[in-house]
Amino acid sequence: MIIIKSPREVGLIRESARVVALVFDRLEPLIKPGVSTQFLNDEAEKIIRGEGAIPSELGYYGYPASICASVNETILHGIPSEKKILKDGDIVTIDLCATKAGYVGDAARTFPVGICGERALRMIAIAKEAFENAVALVKPGVHLGDVSHAIEETAKKYGCSVVKDYTGHGIGRSMHEDPYIPCYGRPGTGPILKEGMTICIEPMILEHRPEVKVLKDGWTVVAKDGGLTSHHENTLAVTKDGYEILSKL
Ligand code: MF3
Ligand code: CO
Repeated sequence: MIIIKSPREVGLIRESARVVALVFDRLEPLIKPGVSTQFLNDEAEKIIRGEGAIPSELGYYGYPASICASVNETILHGIPSEKKILKDGDIVTIDLCATKAGYVGDAARTFPVGICGERALRMIAIAKEAFENAVALVKPGVHLGDVSHAIEETAKKYGCSVVKDYTGHGIGRSMHEDPYIPCYGRPGTGPILKEGMTICIEPMILEHRPEVKVLKDGWTVVAKDGGLTSHHENTLAVTKDGYEILSKL
């Protein structure tokens, strides 16, 4: 069931999503060769709590940290660790959620570490472009299949793949609600967007093959072929004639 939010509820999600955007803004200068993903986790948690919010991922289905920090071939749910030290040329995806006043905001960005090569920078750009192409279609009356299709087409244009086993989603009192928004789809299919829906569009891009595997820790999702990965996600509200990105400052 897709829950339509009142303007007041959209306002509460906007505030939680702003906290997430603030974390990216403050974390970006700290993302350098030599820092651990645990350090980034701890800084993020301080910022979230400083804003009167809660790191929603902590304890979510038993997830053991406040952010996901996924490096290079890790596409999702990288668990922060003191042992995971960022190196020059890595790319790291920070994916996090904040809950304030009972409503969740969610976003993800892939950041370069130090000086990155073309190959890594290209992955970051493709995830962003896929997001831009998908979100540009969002307005009442549009099928979500159109939005999903735009993600897949952007990936394909660059010879990349999209994740099939994980999707974007509705958001509100829960981190994940209907509708689910795959990174692939057929135009003219799927739920129809309406004003007051709050959704997360999140292209998850693989450099080569689409297959992923989950590591023994039960969380870390990696590209089976070891290629690079990237991810770009925002929380947005469907408005009367388009959309508003909520996870921004
Ligand atoms: N924030 C992720 C998303 O984009 C979900 C993280 S799952 C968790 O939907 F277990 F790590 F919290
Ligand atoms: Co999400």
